[in-house]
Amino acid sequence: MSGDTTYILGISAFYHDSAACLLRDGEILAAAQEERFTRKKGDASFPVNAIEFCLGRAGISVADLTYVGFYDKPLLKFERILETYIGVAPRGFSTFVKAAPLWVKQKLHMEKLIRKGLGYKGEILYAEHHESHAASAFFPSPFEESAILTMDGVGEWETSTMGIGRGNDFELIKELRWPDSLGLLYSAFTYFTGFKVNSGEYKVMGLAPYGRPKYKKLIYEELIDLREDGSFRMNQKYFNYLSGLTMTNDAFADLFGGPPRAPEAKLTQREMDLARSVQEVVEEIVLRTATKIHEESGCDNLCLARGVALNCVCNGRLLREGPFKSIWIQPAAGDAGGALGVAQLIWHRYMGNERVVEPGRDSMMGTYLGPEFSSDEIVDYLKSQKASYRLLGREDLLETVAAILADGKVVGWFNGRMEFGPRALGSRSILGDPRSPEMQRKMNLKIKFREGFRPFAPSVLLERVSDYFELDCESPYMLLVARVKKERCIAMTGAEQELWGIEQLNVLRSDIPSVTHVDYSARVQTVSSTNPDFHDLIKAFEDATGYGVVVNTSFNVRGEPIVCTPADAYRCFMRTDMDHLVLGSYLLAKSDQPDWQEEGDWRNEFQLD
Ligand SMILES: [Fe+2]
Repeated sequence: MSGDTTYILGISAFYHDSAACLLRDGEILAAAQEERFTRKKGDASFPVNAIEFCLGRAGISVADLTYVGFYDKPLLKFERILETYIGVAPRGFSTFVKAAPLWVKQKLHMEKLIRKGLGYKGEILYAEHHESHAASAFFPSPFEESAILTMDGVGEWETSTMGIGRGNDFELIKELRWPDSLGLLYSAFTYFTGFKVNSGEYKVMGLAPYGRPKYKKLIYEELIDLREDGSFRMNQKYFNYLSGLTMTNDAFADLFGGPPRAPEAKLTQREMDLARSVQEVVEEIVLRTATKIHEESGCDNLCLARGVALNCVCNGRLLREGPFKSIWIQPAAGDAGGALGVAQLIWHRYMGNERVVEPGRDSMMGTYLGPEFSSDEIVDYLKSQKASYRLLGREDLLETVAAILADGKVVGWFNGRMEFGPRALGSRSILGDPRSPEMQRKMNLKIKFREGFRPFAPSVLLERVSDYFELDCESPYMLLVARVKKERCIAMTGAEQELWGIEQLNVLRSDIPSVTHVDYSARVQTVSSTNPDFHDLIKAFEDATGYGVVVNTSFNVRGEPIVCTPADAYRCFMRTDMDHLVLGSYLLAKSDQPDWQEEGDWRNEFQLD
């Protein structure tokens, strides 16, 4: 037994992105998403692998757990589905039939599942969905006192909540209820522009700068009724999510000039204009809501969580134009973060433990909360593959990799503990030279196997951020978009200004073109000593090139979860045109590796999103 030590296990599961998180005496010891272990993107099943990892990290067994917390009250969610169904019956029958068996069998039997699945005999506590999100926003934040804003697609009844956090607790003061949901509005456009709901939202955000906001007026006139305080009603005449399994209906299609784009069909100017329009509407709603909560709370700090908080363009605008002095965003802002939220809710609210805040420092440990692998484990794997590798000392490795990057090569960088949350932050990243004008296309098409328009993000030395971007604060989780510094931008010629849509991609925009989006913006990660190896690698790149910034994209291909183990990383390296791979202290060159053979087309194993 663990004696006086309190271990709390938080679990989120069965909606999307299952995860587990373990606290030891209130300290976040480990957290991971189930998808990384099962290799199924957004895996929503009970997170047995993530739980096993968390317990293993602490060296404890299920019997040592003081509490198990679940991020949602299963009955409330079921009630919403049922009431929605009754409200629109008989139109809603197909949705109900599809949703019901899973809910009834798994979601209502949570208790049994946790007890039997884990062999756990202690107390199980349930939080409400939006409270788990709000807890994940406030408790780990660097603020003693803060306004809280969470906005999402679906939770229980509450789709947006506002609250105020002080000391070791928070209270929620306002909510917007289902089915009026900012997340669902965005998802409707994600669906309509031909991307996958719940994962394609980033693509809509990435596509927006290519378009014009020409449908904005129509959205305000027909789709939503927005009030001064940021609350709104959605005109259900145009949406299909209450009664069907698609997001939008024929009336929606009539409004926006024809049927939705089929997935994988060619992107047209219409999709770009739609993306730009909905993005601007969402930004305006978030700004209004933030202004309201600022007024009501009197706080100058804001913390954010839930799906909409991952809209980093919106976050950037909130920071620039909104009323708050400081903003903190939970890096695992989606449902995975609910596992962390419920665990902290138990520690602070249920157990009444004090919350100690170190000003300016959150308690997420850079969100490097996942598994790590020893040199022995890495070498054992490499030997099993008859791979060719070199062991390098730290300084030598950093200088060598910096020189490889400066030479225009693409490097898979696998180092330390895996990130918790959707962004790769220098533990499981693919890196490149931001000065190269071809890098965006090369990385998109030959390495990630994804659409050429998708932008890449820069990781910049924290101490240099203002040299490259219009940003003077930390953005450790790559959740803020800022403009590339004016002096670095290259003005467009008259002819270039006439270009619209994808044609704009070929225009050189700055001296760091592969991380400069078509509207001169960039999704910035600032890198500090929280990740010393990654920081010093960028420093070495700066010594070699004069640039303290690299391209950083997640270590995976399209449709695949981010790599977790050395085996995942090596496989991804061998399947793509990546030039080099770093696994801990080991450097591998593609040209030295034995042939890589797989049966069939491996891309079929991934659900293209
Ligand atoms: Fe959620």
